Amino acid sequence: MTIFSVLTPDIYEQIYSSKSYLAEFVYISKQFEVFIKEGNSSELCIEFGPGTGSMTDYVRKVFTNYTLVEPSGSFCDHLAHKYIDQTSLHIYQTSMQEYVLKILVPKSPLLACVFANFNVINYISQLEFHSFLTLLGSCLNVGSRFVFDTWSLEYVHNMPFCQELVTAYPDNQESSDCPIITRRACSSFDSDMSKLTIEFEFTQLVENVSTFLGNEVHEIYPFDINALKYAIGLAKQWVIISVLPHEAVRGESFHNQASDISFSNQRNWYITLLRV
Ligand SMILES: C[S@@+](CC[C@H](N)C(=O)[O-])C[C@H]1O[C@@H](n2cnc3c(N)ncnc32)[C@H](O)[C@@H]1O
Repeated sequence: MTIFSVLTPDIYEQIYSSKSYLAEFVYISKQFEVFIKEGNSSELCIEFGPGTGSMTDYVRKVFTNYTLVEPSGSFCDHLAHKYIDQTSLHIYQTSMQEYVLKILVPKSPLLACVFANFNVINYISQLEFHSFLTLLGSCLNVGSRFVFDTWSLEYVHNMPFCQELVTAYPDNQESSDCPIITRRACSSFDSDMSKLTIEFEFTQLVENVSTFLGNEVHEIYPFDINALKYAIGLAKQWVIISVLPHEAVRGESFHNQASDISFSNQRNWYITLLRV
């Protein structure tokens, strides 16, 4: 499992400070609209891989009953501190697979809105995800929904085999007095395993003095979305009610379904499943 060792909660939030969480929240809440028509829902919302809770901050306000499932110890400590006063919010320090197996399977099936935002599911292989979906589906009542985003394997196949990218954060350095973090990312793609290995190197710059913070290796499994659609269709437990590229979600132009866009043209896709 990928360990977020250098990406501590503070560094994580600095690096992703310009991510379009609000637009993503608008999209996710639209997928759960039938549950939150009155602005507040007493149904259970389960969030897998919340990280530091940037999306949680939005979504928890429309659900009174909220569960976070996060394997990273430092992210869990951060979440526990952040939501110390939220008695109807529960945090489990474990993977989504273990949570479903150990916590949900022994219970009676329940109606829930479930989501995993920002590549969470790509930390497991596609085959593992297919089994996970079946198990999750068996724990949820008809009408439950699951929203997640995924990297497209079709897109990654068209990328150069090895890439190197250096980015400095925050992007808007004039408006911030925090130290600049530089992230060097070298990615290589193993097409046999459908696995992308990204080696990150982090450096901090204070008054022109550069300090090496450390390395972190992430193993990401982009998904073959056509194969995913096929597997979901065969199992007949879930139906896909929305597939949209992240670009459309970010631009809030999600009224048009993306039937005409190829999975090889866009990297990130949002998918909504309905339990039937
Ligand atoms: C890119 S971060 C996204 C964090 C957060 N959802 C956000 O939108 O900022 C990926 C998160 O997935 C978590 N994660 C990785 N593998 C997981 C698993 N098997 N089950 C649950 N969460 C996982 C990581 O610990 C990390 O918090």
